[in-house]
Amino acid sequence: MDFEQVIKNRKSTRQFTDQKVAVEVIKKVLQEAQLAPSWVNSQPYHVHLATGDSLERVRAQQEQLDNSGAKGAPDLPMMSRKDWPAQAQVNMAEWTKGLGAAGKEMGPASAKLYNAQEVLYLTLPKGYSLWSLYDLGSFGNGIVLAATNQGLASMTAYQFIKYPKMLRKELNIADDEEIIIGIGLGYPDDNALVNTIKSRRMNLDDILTIHR
Ligand SMILES: Cc1cc2nc3c(=O)[nH]c(=O)nc-3n(C[C@H](O)[C@H](O)[C@H](O)COP(=O)(O)O)c2cc1C
Repeated sequence: MDFEQVIKNRKSTRQFTDQKVAVEVIKKVLQEAQLAPSWVNSQPYHVHLATGDSLERVRAQQEQLDNSGAKGAPDLPMMSRKDWPAQAQVNMAEWTKGLGAAGKEMGPASAKLYNAQEVLYLTLPKGYSLWSLYDLGSFGNGIVLAATNQGLASMTAYQFIKYPKMLRKELNIADDEEIIIGIGLGYPDDNALVNTIKSRRMNLDDILTIHR
């Protein structure tokens, strides 16, 4: 796929079909994402792929926890929206307001992990340098772009990692690994209202200062 098409076609998908992704395709996506730069080539991340029965066990537990109102307790600290910088608060409020009817489908879809057929959990070893968070984000973006190039839909979400205790138990993830983010992969359900959510970007001039 043309690079510009890849970067423009990638978007968050919140409802996947039941179609699975071949493990060879996922490995190709990850190998391409591994080409991301990292601090002194440290490549600090690890990937856990949940698929098949393992993922179904996680999905069942997630739905139960979500429906019981269990509070998310991710390994990365959370910050209340009101403590974010002002512009970020404006952007988040605008995005939330723009969800419309599709927003009502987000809760039920997310409780079922968006029906993603493959979920990648990206982890860092406990005690990681803060620079590794930059590297992991870069790796994650490589994953979603490489996935788009393979004709896959993707979803980067806190929703996947909000219950790390459950994930550690179900996927046998060691205590010395911090579960940073989850990325769902699969094929998009083109009939789902929740997949019509669009996100705007700020004007470039509002985030760019050119120093001549
Ligand atoms: C670290 C991270 C966590 C996210 N967590 C969620 C989530 O839990 N639920 C959700 O609906 N979207 C989540 N998103 C998706 C963002 O809402 C989305 O990327 C943003 O609105 C831009 O839309 P786009 O990805 O379609 O371009 C997350 C994105 C990132 C990068």
